[in-house]
Amino acid sequence: MIMKVTKTNNLFGDVYISGSKNAALPCICAALLTKEQVKLINVPDIEDVNNLLTIIKDLGVKVKKEEDILTISAGRVKTKVINHLVSKLRGSYYLMGSLLARKRKVQIIYPGGCEIGERPIDFHLQGFKETGCEVNDTKEIIEITKKIDKETSITFPSLSMGATINIILSTCIGNGITTITNPSLEPETLCVIEMLNNMGACIIIEDNKIQINGVKKLKGVNYHIIYDRIEAGSYLFLAGSIPFSKVTLHNVDHKHLEVVIVVARKIGIKITKIDNGLIVEGPEKINKTNILIGPYPFFPTDLQQILTVVLTRSDTSKIEDAIFPDRIAHLKELRKMHAYVYDYNRIIYIKKSKLKSSKVKATDLRCAFALIIAGSMAKGTSYIMDIDYLFRGYVTPVKKLKAIGLNVEII
Ligand code: EPZ
Repeated sequence: MIMKVTKTNNLFGDVYISGSKNAALPCICAALLTKEQVKLINVPDIEDVNNLLTIIKDLGVKVKKEEDILTISAGRVKTKVINHLVSKLRGSYYLMGSLLARKRKVQIIYPGGCEIGERPIDFHLQGFKETGCEVNDTKEIIEITKKIDKETSITFPSLSMGATINIILSTCIGNGITTITNPSLEPETLCVIEMLNNMGACIIIEDNKIQINGVKKLKGVNYHIIYDRIEAGSYLFLAGSIPFSKVTLHNVDHKHLEVVIVVARKIGIKITKIDNGLIVEGPEKINKTNILIGPYPFFPTDLQQILTVVLTRSDTSKIEDAIFPDRIAHLKELRKMHAYVYDYNRIIYIKKSKLKSSKVKATDLRCAFALIIAGSMAKGTSYIMDIDYLFRGYVTPVKKLKAIGLNVEII
């Protein structure tokens, strides 16, 4: 799929942020932990979610979708997860944790995920072993069986949102007590914990540790998924990148974007907080900055590529992505647009550049959005190949972009 993007002078209007992709995926898997009906509200209509729903339907789970409301009934569920779609998204790995809790065994092919550097799952598998599972990784398929429930404490080699959530899912049913001493406490993790506790789980967060006390069984729930802070940040920087723009973002939880708002203001973007939203005004000049990307509440890695593009309007800026240091495939595409962006020793260096329209290629979900911003800044008309990635994680992106005046179309 190709997107045509033409330079845009200013943006005006409203963007309504949808439910969080990275919260919806684990919450859908959490729904498999009970035979009772689970209703999830504010579920984003995106490819990754729809692919995960196809996978769980394949496992015998009943799914009903009405707009952003999902009704899931996992009366029975198979444990052999071999649908090829598993390798199309990273979030399918949460099926390991949920099937281990529900059925105490799972066979699954390797998950996929954006090519933003290494995407290992060694922390997950190690965590399952330490909580009483037997893991047989044949490199084609992973077979995991829960042998015993035990009292154990886990420390990951580095913070991992996926591994934290997976261990929570896999240990919330049973007789074990599991403490994660260095959990990733991203808003999406807290969302899953809240949903599970509303289902009768006993998960406690204290002194930045998470303790999961296994319970006998979980009940059904109606649960509202949090809004997508990365979608909000994406549109925030889009509006902020075009001078004299004024865009209102609705359905924004300010505390999920604290550092993003600080950074945006620091580079000159005017941001006014309103009830459940933000008013974003694009400045004439973008100031330079140096950013260290890290786990929440640091600046999020999923907005790194997008910020890189905006900073091509500033003098020399630097970004270090400590989570995915190899998340640099967008730099080559931006250089095709005459951007002065280089990486050296895990640091991205950005200099003021006059972007020129070009034919570029989206390399992953967030790169796709970053190139749209670049296309709207560059003189002339740009063409973005493989824009399909965009639809994995953004709800009706073309409609939302056109609503604020961006000159885009799928050709
Ligand atoms: C989740 O990926 C998100 N994906 C990513 O969003 C997000 O960028 C990332 O968390 C932020 O931490 C989903 O939620 C589906 P991690 P995940 O485990 O779970 C290393 C997007 O654009 N690591 O927090 O893969 C890993 O390589 C996507 O929406 C291991 O070494 O991230 C990384 O360097 C992109 N072994 C660091 O830890 C493991 O077993 C943090 O990874 C797991 C992770």
